[in-house]
Order: sequence, then C-alpha cells, then structure tokens
Amino acid sequence: MPRPEPAVFGGSIRHKPISIPLFSFEKGAQTATRPLLTHPFIFPTLKTVMANRNIREQVDLIREVFTYIERFKGSIFVIKIANDIIDHPCFLQHTGDLALLHKAGIRTVIVPGARRRIDEVLERFGAASQFVNGTRISDPAAIDLVKMAAFDVAHRVMTALSSHKTPAVIGNWVRARSRGVVDGVDFQRTGFIDKVDAPTLTQTLNQGSVAIFPCVGHNETGQPFNLSSDEMAGAVAAACGAQKIFHLEALPVLKVPEWQVPESLKVLEDGRIFRINSGTVSDILALNPKQPGRELLSCAAESCRGGIERVHILDGRCSGVLLQEVFSNLGVGTMIFADDYEYIRPMETSDIPGVLEVIAPLAEKGILIPRSREDLEQHRKDYWVYAMDSVIHGCAALHPREKGWAEIAAVAVDARYAQLGIGARLLSRLSEEALQLGIQQVFVLTTRTADWFLSQGFKEASPADLPPDKLAVYNTKRNSRVLVKQLS
Ligand SMILES: CC(C)(COP(=O)(O)OP(=O)(O)OC[C@H]1O[C@@H](n2cnc3c(N)ncnc32)[C@H](O)[C@@H]1OP(=O)(O)O)[C@@H](O)C(=O)NCCC(=O)NCCS
Repeated sequence: MPRPEPAVFGGSIRHKPISIPLFSFEKGAQTATRPLLTHPFIFPTLKTVMANRNIREQVDLIREVFTYIERFKGSIFVIKIANDIIDHPCFLQHTGDLALLHKAGIRTVIVPGARRRIDEVLERFGAASQFVNGTRISDPAAIDLVKMAAFDVAHRVMTALSSHKTPAVIGNWVRARSRGVVDGVDFQRTGFIDKVDAPTLTQTLNQGSVAIFPCVGHNETGQPFNLSSDEMAGAVAAACGAQKIFHLEALPVLKVPEWQVPESLKVLEDGRIFRINSGTVSDILALNPKQPGRELLSCAAESCRGGIERVHILDGRCSGVLLQEVFSNLGVGTMIFADDYEYIRPMETSDIPGVLEVIAPLAEKGILIPRSREDLEQHRKDYWVYAMDSVIHGCAALHPREKGWAEIAAVAVDARYAQLGIGARLLSRLSEEALQLGIQQVFVLTTRTADWFLSQGFKEASPADLPPDKLAVYNTKRNSRVLVKQLS
C-alpha cells in the first residue's frame, strides 16, 4: 500500500500569514503599524487592569507583558489539551487565549487528547477497549473508530479557533510505528511516533496557521495507529524546535502536602510546586508512587531530556491559566525545566537596566551601596545575573582582589522572587567561577545580611583580615561586617 500523502484539513479560508506587524513573526511586513495601546491584544488587558490596580502596578504589568511578547515572538509553543478540557466550560476561553498568543506572533501547535471521545465512540459501536498500564490497545477493528473520534476532537478545536478568527489546519504530519508485542502483550494498532514531518509543519506554521495534530499516525505502508497525545506533544515539540510545551489537564495544580517532595525543592507559600528541575523528577516520582499525574510528570521530564527547555503543567479547568503562565514569571502551574544553570549567566550590557532595577530599592533602604550604570558598565565582566525569559530576577558580582582573594558584592534578588533559592544559586555559581579563576577565598562586606551569608557557609572575620587593596578603601563609617569563606 502506498504511503499516504501529507494531508491537511483547513479551518479557515484564510491561509495567508496574518499581518499584524507589531506582533507578527512575518518578517518585513509592509502594512501600517497600529498604535500600540489600541492593539486588540493589549487594549482589553489594559482596560481590565485599570479598574483594580494602581498606576505603578499597571505599568509594571504592561512592561512585563511587552517583555514577554518581544521574547516569544516567532517561538513555537506546543499545547496539549486533555479531552476533559475540550469538554469543559473553560475550553472556549482557552481557545480565545490561544488565538491571542497566535496574534502576538507565537507559532502554535495543538495536540488534542481524545481519550474520552474514543471511549464514547467505541462504546456506541459496541467495541470494548483493553488497557495495559494506562495504554489503550486498539485492535484493527477499532482503529477506524479511533480515527473518527480523534479527528472529531481535532475538528472541534479547529472550529473553536475559527470562531476567534484564527486559521487552523489539521494534518497528518506524523509517521507511526507499531509498539509491537511487549511482555507477551500485542499492542496491535497502538503505536509510537516514528517521525514528524517537521519541514511541512514549519511551512504550515510560517504561513500563519495553527497546526492541529489528531492522536493518530500512519506507518510506512499507510496503516493507521492510535498514538499517545502526551508523547505526540513531546515528539512534535522536539521535531520543530518548540520553546515550550503546555499541558492543559483536568488535574489539580501540583502542591504539597498532596505531593511529597525532596526537602531541597522550593515550593511557594501556598504549597504550589511551581518548578521542578527535570533531574529531580525521578526523586519526586519515587516519593509519590500513586499520585495521579505521575505519567505526565515523567513525560514532561522526558521532553526536557529531548531538548525542550520548559514544560508547563496547568489546571485547564481554570480560566486564563495559559496567559498567566506565559506572561508571569512564577506562573500558575508547574514548570519542569531542563537545567537551572541556564538561568544564571554573565551580565550583558542589555541586562544593566534590569540589574539597576533590582538594586535600586535595596540601595534606597541602605541595604546595598548604590551602583550607577557607569559602575556596572565598568565592571560588567564581574557581574552575573539570574534571568528568566530575559527578565532579571537577581544579580551578584565577583571582584578579584589581591593575594588570591575575591570580593562577593551586590548580591541582590528582586523581592518578588525572594526565598526561592535564587540568592543561594547565584552564590554557588560565583564560588565555581572563583575556583576556576584560581581564587581560594572570598569575602563579603554587609551591614544587614550577615545571617544569610553565615547560613551559606561564610565565617565572621574582621577588617584586618581583608586583602590590602580592600582594607585601604574600607569605609569605617559604614562599619560593614566582614565575612569570609574558604572555597576549596
Ligand atoms: C539575601 C538575599 C540575596 C537572599 O536571596 P534569596 O534568593 O531570597 O535567598 P534564598 O532563597 O537563596 O535563601 C532563603 C533562605 O535565606 C533566608 N534569608 C533570606 N534573606 C535573609 C536575610 N536577610 N537574613 C537572614 N536570612 C535570610 C530565608 O529565611 C531562607 O531561609 P530557609 O531556607 O531556612 O527558609 C536577598 O534576600 C536579598 O536580595 N537581600 C537584599 C540584598 C542584600 O542584603 N545583599 C547582601 C549584601 S551583598
């Protein structure tokens, strides 16, 4: 049997790239630029917040949204929507939010789950389903019904997007292969994702359409297979170089004490597990052998290992979760990320305004010595930042001194992100850097934060212990306490 040609099902008669130059990922758009604050994406947001927030908060929020829009313009987001969410009253709002992301220039791929719809269709036609470890075994008699259900759900997503004037296409961009016989169980027409036709998918996205992946694929000879939509989201994201995967699930947000977590994992005040390094996921799974959502967590970690920077698990039964997760740093769900250290990096010139913003309120209170833009430019190479999505959350400096010493200074974390381990991670990064520079001992001068440095392994010392070049400029009036740490 010949391999089927790639096919797409159009959700809108408009297949041209959308032209909203300010937010469009289409390079070199010629149309006139609409004034920023009257843009439909920004204006409703503005109107909503105006009523409740003071001017400072409004401006901060608008800045944050703009920063994110700029950051994500042209990126690919893969959104897996569980079937229960497609049947939920929030679904239309989610598709409205997806349409906004699309209009903001984010290239969007949707993978709709179809489990419930497949159950319904199979039941209606009197076909029973067998599950092994949560995976449905689709036999050759059932696969046509599975296809019907999967395309039905995909079609619902496409129609909902059309109602928000967002072009979408359903495609068969996935080649499948059989799962075969595992431990004596024949998985028949239940398959794995073998390959994703990334060039055709990218072309579709670049033409301005949302791409929808039903959970079926065909093998080399054209036989259809039922595929896991969670696995599909990971495979598609890896193939097209997506920046993020979002799972909109009918699951409560991950929290302690419902979930057991290692002591080292920071959680928010309300217990929300807001981020997990993919390397920690196996520890969490071992501590929670029966929690619903384990497979999802495991799948998210797998996607991170496959090269996706961040996977976000959201409770899709709450309205607005997608926008809240995309446009705020702490989000509202759980983010599984590839590597913590990628957030800590040497400061670049473009980071200086963000660093000044973090330092300024602390300098006003006399906690830190004020720094000017020129100071930062002059010592740029000494500074490190903790940045997420280009927003600076914290900074710290390592100034090499005489006799194998270095001074740690300007350790500061934006108050909104305090107590999340950012300060400790910056310190530990500076220590590594110092060791690489052959520096064995560091010191810090502080008036108010000695306790914190003591908790990070520093020891009390006196000005007389400082290296000569620092002692010569020690400000006796400020009378800072001196703390030192041996690094080896
Ligand atoms: C001190 C500072 C850098 C800590 O950063 P952070 O990211 O909030 O801290 P972490 O999350 O790594 O550590 C949190 C722990 O430190 C404790 N801590 C935080 N600030 C503290 C302080 N000023 N004094 C004593 N302990 C403090 C917290 O209670 C928490 O303890 P726990 O782990 O037992 O719950 C940050 O609070 C800050 O910017 N302070 C103002 C600037 C400053 O003083 N800089 C030092 C002079 S160079």
